Amino acid sequence: MTMPISIRPLIAIVLAGAAGLAMAHGNVTPQPVNTGNLPSLGDEVRMENPFREGNELSEYYSEAVKVGESAYAGNCASCHGIRAMSGGLTPDLRELTEWDDEYFITRVRNGTDRGMPSWKKSLDQNAMWAIRTYVESLPKPE
Ligand code: HEC
Repeated sequence: MTMPISIRPLIAIVLAGAAGLAMAHGNVTPQPVNTGNLPSLGDEVRMENPFREGNELSEYYSEAVKVGESAYAGNCASCHGIRAMSGGLTPDLRELTEWDDEYFITRVRNGTDRGMPSWKKSLDQNAMWAIRTYVESLPKPE
């Protein structure tokens, strides 16, 4: 009976892997965001994306996309999917339109009791609007 002994380490590895995956989804550790050269937006929360083309700070659009890309990858991708391709378990953020700015910032700041964490203590609005700008720069879902 040598078989059970030789497969035991294999089972241990598989179990550890599954636990790691479950934790990656459930346990949210906010990643600090370096908002680079973006101008400070202050404390008063804006209700419109200032970095969008045609808006007040649109000259920072490309910088916002860059900052948003890494902020998204570190904080949102584990639930909302790589490059915002959600896969159906969470809302697809690419489907929000520019009229949803207020909805977006409110949801991100406050979270919901159905699984969306609140970010107002860990991200400033620069990071939030940068994420919004990045998601808007992505191709829309088919
Ligand atoms: C732990 C998983 C998780 C993480 C991490 C997460 N979200 Fe969510 N998010 C959810 C879930 C689940 C919902 C749906 C909540 C509901 O319906 O009440 C949601 C909803 C939203 C909504 C509302 C979308 C809609 O169409 O209703 C926005 C906007 C949003 N998330 C943005 C973000 C951003 C930006 C980040 C990163 C800073 C983020 N989320 C990180 C799980 C997550």
